[in-house]
Amino acid sequence: MKIASVQALVLAAGKATRFKTTKNKLLAPVCGRPMVLYPLQALNSLGIATTVIVGHQAEALKETIAATKLNGISYVTQTEQLGTGHAVASSQALWNQDHILVLNGDLPLITPELIENLILNHLTKDASVSLYATHVIDPHGYGRVITADNLVTIVEEKDCTPEQREVTRINAGVYLFKKDFLTSFITKLGNSNAHQEYYLPDLINFASQDGLTVEILNAPFDNLRGTNTLEELWAVEQIKRSELISYWMSQGVRFSLAQNVHIDVDCEIGADSFIGAGVILLRGTKIGNNCNIGAYAVIENSTINDNSTIHSHSVIEDSTVGSNVSVGPFARLRNNAVLGDNVGIGNFVEIKNSTLGESTKAKHLAYLGDATIGQQVNIGAGSIICNWDGVQKHRTVIKDKAYIGANNTLVAPLEVGTGAYTAAGSTITQTVPANDLAIARSRQVNKTGYAEKIRAKAAQRADNKTTPTYPKAASEEEEPVHIIAARKSSSDCDSQ
Ligand code: UD1
Ligand code: CA
Repeated sequence: MKIASVQALVLAAGKATRFKTTKNKLLAPVCGRPMVLYPLQALNSLGIATTVIVGHQAEALKETIAATKLNGISYVTQTEQLGTGHAVASSQALWNQDHILVLNGDLPLITPELIENLILNHLTKDASVSLYATHVIDPHGYGRVITADNLVTIVEEKDCTPEQREVTRINAGVYLFKKDFLTSFITKLGNSNAHQEYYLPDLINFASQDGLTVEILNAPFDNLRGTNTLEELWAVEQIKRSELISYWMSQGVRFSLAQNVHIDVDCEIGADSFIGAGVILLRGTKIGNNCNIGAYAVIENSTINDNSTIHSHSVIEDSTVGSNVSVGPFARLRNNAVLGDNVGIGNFVEIKNSTLGESTKAKHLAYLGDATIGQQVNIGAGSIICNWDGVQKHRTVIKDKAYIGANNTLVAPLEVGTGAYTAAGSTITQTVPANDLAIARSRQVNKTGYAEKIRAKAAQRADNKTTPTYPKAASEEEEPVHIIAARKSSSDCDSQ
């Protein structure tokens, strides 16, 4: 295909007022990818050089695009947003191919195949203009494609007569123009319409009136949905999410309640893995083969290796989990927590910026922060690392096969040597040499028979309670005062 003769313009300068958000709608993520990147990626996969027309929040858009691996992208700034026709005109100095493909920026479900088909048909038919149209039950907000008397006219909703508004064939916002046609006709666009904007679709009306070849291709509405409101964004994201889940199903991933799972577009899941209800996989998360991700787990920018289980309600961010690991339920890994193979992390355990070697266990209620922990270490229930002294963080090193007793407070900086033990309930502040036992708690004292004395004292206190002492009455006749019952009513006050 002679795709080399085609260049693309992506219109991305608009203010998107119908979104009602302060951030540019084209940066709104659809399954984790900013909306504007979808058409750009489709064009990139076809090797088509692309110019993005920016204006509203131009810098943020450019930064987002620059952060991707997309190449061959140039920019034109449309300083005043005077309409889609004006946006195209503002890029005229960069038209250097025979055909100019124009895409609205808010079409995240467009596919490379649709773009390719439009180009192929355009070149084969030697059309002056080609575009996509689609049928939709509720065409609200779209330009209507009206064909009558061998003429094609696109009428924006606000300019429609009541009869035209009933038309359900709409303009999708994907066009291919011969450069010569565009150069001759772009200057003829006017703005005497309901929006007082220069409408790009008016060019189709000009071509048709001049008897030039206008090719209209049909495509499914779901691939050509525009995204003008948050409700439309929601609809578009539902479609993208369903596509992703269907894809992972086709790769051998089992879902229990697929309809309430969310997966970002850049995540990966290995075969034989199971994804429970309400699971959220975000920002490039990679799940290996045969993993089990329990209900309502949230995993972001993390890797879970083969045969591991993340139990329900665990939250994992920016971390790596080895193979055959068990995490949770209700565990939290963050800031580069790295778990070796066969590690066991139980409920209510938080791990931050720490490495745990192979087969190490922290099964209950622990906090491990800024630590390097070796292999086969046991962290007892309720043990925590005090890594922050109020001014700076300190590291803790716990070597292989060390045993941290239950309910320890490990005050960093600290080192616990290989095979060392710490006694339950200890506050460890100094290095524990290898194979030593550290006990750092007050010694137990047994007072013989003292329990009986305590019980007797307690009983006496209880007896005293049954003989309450009332406040002494001021005179013999006066009743004891009951504070609550003695409160005056408002009518008492009025009568004063
Ligand atoms: C447009 C079409 C409409 C079509 C619909 C398909 C026009 C006049 N109407 O309407 O026929 O049915 O798309 O989704 O084109 N933009 C600029 N500069 C501007 C104005 C807009 O770059 O001055 C950009 C926007 O950022 C957006 C794209 O152009 O990405 C389309 O603009 P939008 O306002 O969404 O057009 P629609 O009203 O949806
Ligand atoms: Ca739109």
